[in-house]
Amino acid sequence: MTAGRTLAGVDEDGFVRVAASADVGGAPFLRVTVAGTEVLVGRLADGTVRAFSPRCPHLQQPLTSAIVTGSTLECPFHFYAYDLDSGANTFPGDDADLALPLHDVRERDGEVLVRLRDAVRPGGTGRSATS
Ligand code: FES
Repeated sequence: MTAGRTLAGVDEDGFVRVAASADVGGAPFLRVTVAGTEVLVGRLADGTVRAFSPRCPHLQQPLTSAIVTGSTLECPFHFYAYDLDSGANTFPGDDADLALPLHDVRERDGEVLVRLRDAVRPGGTGRSATS
């Protein structure tokens, strides 16, 4: 058993194993389900992993094949862009409420683990958590 595990696939902080590290790359992003919520998981060019909503906040189109440059994700449909560090819309950037929901992610022991942020957890408080 991997250190830090408390239940099969769930670590001591509530992160859920979603994939082997080797299976997480760039677009098309890996679609996983965490506690009934669909999440996309992708690796940036710097090697870090992000977990985010599979739908664009603009018109809910799929982001599976979105373009990522640095830490900016661009939706292929109308080119709205989001910062994958904060979720903020950076193009057109005129609507502060148009943020991409992000989730907490960690990678260790060859595995990628995701924890839903409160905003999308059933009964969540709208707060985000950090690891
Ligand atoms: S649906 Fe993504 S930019 Fe319009």
